[in-house]
Amino acid sequence: MKLIIDTDPGIDDAIAIALASRLAQIDMVALTTVFGNTFVRQSSRNARYIVDLLGLDVPVAEGAALPYGADSYTPSANVHGPEGLGDIQTVPEIGENASETAAELLVRLAATYPKQLVVCAIGPLTNIADALKLDPSFAANLGQLVIMGGAFEVPGNITPHAEANIFHDPLAADQVFASGLPILMVGLNATLQTLLTAQDFTRLGEASPETGGFLDQISKFYLGFYRSVGVAAGCPMHDAAAVLACVWPERFRTKTIGLRVSLDADTIGATIADVSRPPVQVATGMDGDWAVAKLMARITELP
Ligand code: RIB
Ligand code: CA
Repeated sequence: MKLIIDTDPGIDDAIAIALASRLAQIDMVALTTVFGNTFVRQSSRNARYIVDLLGLDVPVAEGAALPYGADSYTPSANVHGPEGLGDIQTVPEIGENASETAAELLVRLAATYPKQLVVCAIGPLTNIADALKLDPSFAANLGQLVIMGGAFEVPGNITPHAEANIFHDPLAADQVFASGLPILMVGLNATLQTLLTAQDFTRLGEASPETGGFLDQISKFYLGFYRSVGVAAGCPMHDAAAVLACVWPERFRTKTIGLRVSLDADTIGATIADVSRPPVQVATGMDGDWAVAKLMARITELP
């Protein structure tokens, strides 16, 4: 499948991109970047660094810097680190961003590969909403949108009600869920089913000194954040789970229902059932042991 990852790297984003690069079923045609774990400029720089580390020849197109309706945005550096890649203080600028914006690239490639392109959105959904506005045929052209985001009738992770990607741009997310796009939402219902442990990252580093070693290095900050919030056993593989769902959706338990995103102050960012909305697939669980084994097997093949 032709795949674009829309990303805010981001430690678990880096894991997800490394995994995607090792899946034979995936032909990664581009990365598009968005604010979220970092400022969008950092997202783009980090994405280009990861692309270079993985030896990929794919463009990185920069997208939205701000959520809809906001005139400023400040990332929470305590989760992914000051530069978005853990405790790395200086991430080199490698290459340049594509001349197109993220939305321009998304609509162009969706039209180039009608009904074949899959977009795996693992950050806020602003670029996807922008693509819908830029080209009304984007929804008809796109093969599938797989989202890491949402928390369906389970607690959130950034507030008691909302998952971070949806919370960071609830207006854009609500427009995406209203669009009629073919969506598979891989939210906390699935991604909190398992954890990656410090021992897993050590194994990655031993088997794959370059890529696994990089992921082992940046994971320490992420593991430290989760320990600080009482999760001592490891860190979730949020974004990598969405990549796995692109290839093996049958490994995810799902329900089909329409969704809206709460814009009410006290529950903003909550993903709520709405039968008046076009139905989407919502992952309600995944085979966590299988997911970790698949990730470990693929990434340990990297140099
Ligand atoms: O809630 C988890 C999501 O928020 C992941 O995509 C992580 O990278 C952050 O962006
Ligand atoms: Ca992310």
